[in-house]
Amino acid sequence: MILGVCYYPEHWPEADWAEDARRMADMGLGVVRIGEFAWSRIEPQPGGFDWAWLDRAVTTLADTGLKLVMCTPTATPPKWLVEAEPDMLALDAEGRPRRFGSRRHYCFSSEAYRTACARITEAVAGRYGRHPAVAAWQTDNEYGCHDTTISYSANAARRFRLWLSQRYGSVEALNRAWGSVFWSQHYRSFEEIDPPFLTVTEANPSHRLDYNRFASDEVASFNRLQVDIIRRLSPGRDITHNFMGFYTEFDHFNLARDLDVASWDSYPLGFLEQFATKDEDKLRYARQGHPDIAAFHHDLYRGCGRGRWWVMEQQPGPVNWARFNPAPIPGMVRAWTWEAFAHGAEVVSYFRWRQAPFGQEQLHAGLNRVDRVEDQGGREARQVASELGGLGPLGPCRPAQVALVFSYEADWHLKIQPQGEGFVWLQLAFETYSALRRRGLDVDILPPDADFTGYRLVVCPSLPLLNAASLAALEASGAVVLMGPRTGSRTQEGHIPADLPPGPLQRLLDIKVIRVESLRPGAGPKVKIAERLLSARLWRETIDTALRSRADFADGGPAWIADGKFHYLATWPEAELFDTVIAAAAAEAGVAILDLEEGVRTRTRDGVTFAVNFAPELRTAPAPVGTEFLLGGPELAPGGVSAWR
Ligand code: GAL
Repeated sequence: MILGVCYYPEHWPEADWAEDARRMADMGLGVVRIGEFAWSRIEPQPGGFDWAWLDRAVTTLADTGLKLVMCTPTATPPKWLVEAEPDMLALDAEGRPRRFGSRRHYCFSSEAYRTACARITEAVAGRYGRHPAVAAWQTDNEYGCHDTTISYSANAARRFRLWLSQRYGSVEALNRAWGSVFWSQHYRSFEEIDPPFLTVTEANPSHRLDYNRFASDEVASFNRLQVDIIRRLSPGRDITHNFMGFYTEFDHFNLARDLDVASWDSYPLGFLEQFATKDEDKLRYARQGHPDIAAFHHDLYRGCGRGRWWVMEQQPGPVNWARFNPAPIPGMVRAWTWEAFAHGAEVVSYFRWRQAPFGQEQLHAGLNRVDRVEDQGGREARQVASELGGLGPLGPCRPAQVALVFSYEADWHLKIQPQGEGFVWLQLAFETYSALRRRGLDVDILPPDADFTGYRLVVCPSLPLLNAASLAALEASGAVVLMGPRTGSRTQEGHIPADLPPGPLQRLLDIKVIRVESLRPGAGPKVKIAERLLSARLWRETIDTALRSRADFADGGPAWIADGKFHYLATWPEAELFDTVIAAAAAEAGVAILDLEEGVRTRTRDGVTFAVNFAPELRTAPAPVGTEFLLGGPELAPGGVSAWR
């Protein structure tokens, strides 16, 4: 468990570097990430490299005993490259090229840009790949940030046609898969197909789903290009990429198969402000972050990294990019850091060493202020560093008993056909996760094609494109499986199954969804459970079945059905209904739940249980009486952390 920081030597006078490095080591930091936006300093003129400054920066940091995460600088191509290769720019959904002047101004499908990236990656990895202080690599920076995964450029169109011809073999197969007879969309050749944009009304949903799949593959192959070069020139070093929060435009499980370690950038207060949580939550947790938002991503990226993951950027104070940017309460930066370690992080690295007085992020805090004085975040990092010494090393997280199935395709499909405003897959996945966590459950987040052996309870928030292989893996695991609404509602091509939803699931759960409806806010159904009426929202399915339901809608018809180990929900549950269903499913699965106080969450790593209090009031750690605490004690102040074995 190591602390790190993101540092930009190119932002500061060279005379400061040695002192900065000394202070990093003094703070207890072990790892420094550098270089991800430095292309125009490394190569100020086409082919004219200036290594001298970076060599000196690397030497200064390395001589202080710090390990380096080197980055490829491909998120910020220099102006001269854009001038030389204007076709490297992405086109937005209106067909307009993105312009130079911020960052991420490139199209994943531009061959010219791929060539330029391969060249700069060769250069940087060739220069520093075998440096003893270089411990790891980060490719690019936050793929997809600022809405840049999807591009409608001519380059993308060309590569999309190629991708389609490989997927379908013949254009007639594509016509069948897309149902292009509808509205006379029949194609005579792959060359006739364009990306789905600027259409008069909604483009064909199968066309759009394939464009998502294609764009996702483009990001993965773009990344692989760099990974292959780094592996050759920097053997034995870990390769990672820093993913984002609440971002689903490409399949992160797929891309991460090429990485050694997954990492992500955790900004709990910014995410709470930006994500569609209730206003009351935004107010209540404004300075602590939502109890489940960071954890949700920790568990997701642990899954992507097959157990190995880091926080590459940890919020150190107010950020600059959310609608409102409050400061964390004292102690919260420390709590977030411990929370990440509790979920298995190998490294937690803060963004950034010092607040920048210039550029787009002037109002973004760092561990140090502009005047070089250590800020709140710096003091808390220092505290964690000293506590880490006391706690000693911990092994990785052991597999949990509960898995949540996370499907990027499900998110794409439901964005294309929400059928009701607010039916957002990611929202449902997050609420499902939150319901599990409120019950004190440790959760692993896995892709639909995972091996579920060993899990006792598997929860699928919704899996519209459920396929036979995933279903077989779920069945083989012997776990209790809880499926959310719209599961099995589409074939792989995106058609309604001929035998109706839930398609292949009918083999294990004898139900048929004969009608679906979406309902406006306030018109959600009630579900009757043990004389209580619990709320659901937005969605209601009419189910035809001979099975006895677990619970019915208040006005009749099954809302929750189970057959053996398989459970199905025909609506989107509100919190209380979720809690009830999950408690029942956990009991059937033989998984113990906890009665946690509001705002408290727990996580166990290698036999040590951590509790964090996100509530603005005092709480009690759910530890047995007489526990000897490794960290903190039975009382949890707001932002408090306790740990015990
Ligand atoms: C991340 C990004 C960093 C910085 C940071 C500010 O999304 O990777 O470069 O912009 O946000 O919070």
